[in-house]
Amino acid sequence: MSRRLVVAGNWKMNKTAAEGKALVEELKTRVAAVAPEVEIVVCPPFTTLGAVVEAAAGSRIRVGAQNVHWAPNGAFTGEISAEMLKTSGVEYVIIGHSERRQYFGETNATVNQRLKAALAAGLKPIVCIGESLEEREGGRTEAVLAAQLEGGLADLTPEMMQQVVLAYEPVWAIGTGRTATPEMAEATHAFIRGTLERLFGAAVAAGVVVQYGGSMKPGNARELVAQADIDGGLIGGAALKADSFAELIEQAALGHCGK
Ligand code: 13P
Repeated sequence: MSRRLVVAGNWKMNKTAAEGKALVEELKTRVAAVAPEVEIVVCPPFTTLGAVVEAAAGSRIRVGAQNVHWAPNGAFTGEISAEMLKTSGVEYVIIGHSERRQYFGETNATVNQRLKAALAAGLKPIVCIGESLEEREGGRTEAVLAAQLEGGLADLTPEMMQQVVLAYEPVWAIGTGRTATPEMAEATHAFIRGTLERLFGAAVAAGVVVQYGGSMKPGNARELVAQADIDGGLIGGAALKADSFAELIEQAALGHCGK
């Protein structure tokens, strides 16, 4: 298995700077023994990034933001540019999370703009895709995912695509405790990889890390990551405590090394 395992915690709108620092301090010791090839990322809110970058310095923990604007600077009240993130010591950035799409009007077109800005600044994007319950039940999952990939990844070269991590997060599984079964998730991940092959060629598709997200917990991480096309996780609730996140990472590492 040549693909990396990337486990990222999306803290969403949780944790003050002091709370984030404390979590990372604890996490650092808890994950010290995890296999070094496992990439561990935490994605705090903007105001907590500085404290977390400082706390994670010199450790194996990488830091990501939860969004980025496409313009380099200017009159965009409330937004943050890729350069601002990069120069703050941030390495990753989540783009197009379903909560951004659902509550803040983000579209495949704005995902694409943000993605290009992130890549140009040398950030590693984690691009989120996923269908709603209504779309799954209506048999539209593949059409929705294909449109998200075609629109969100538009104009990217194969070289650019190699820098991108994808996160498949079925919207109906986020924060609901209702996880996709490993078989169901794998079938969808295989479809995503097939679509990447159509868009970018077999070699690129084989190398892209595709995470699963949606009620991933220590108890189901191993079985999910053991699936052929699942290369890690984007974790919400279970990433908010060092204990559960560390245990989840250990379980995911076990699932990965069995492949
Ligand atoms: P939960 O793990 O809380 O379901 O959230 C998943 C998610 O949205 C991560 O981005």
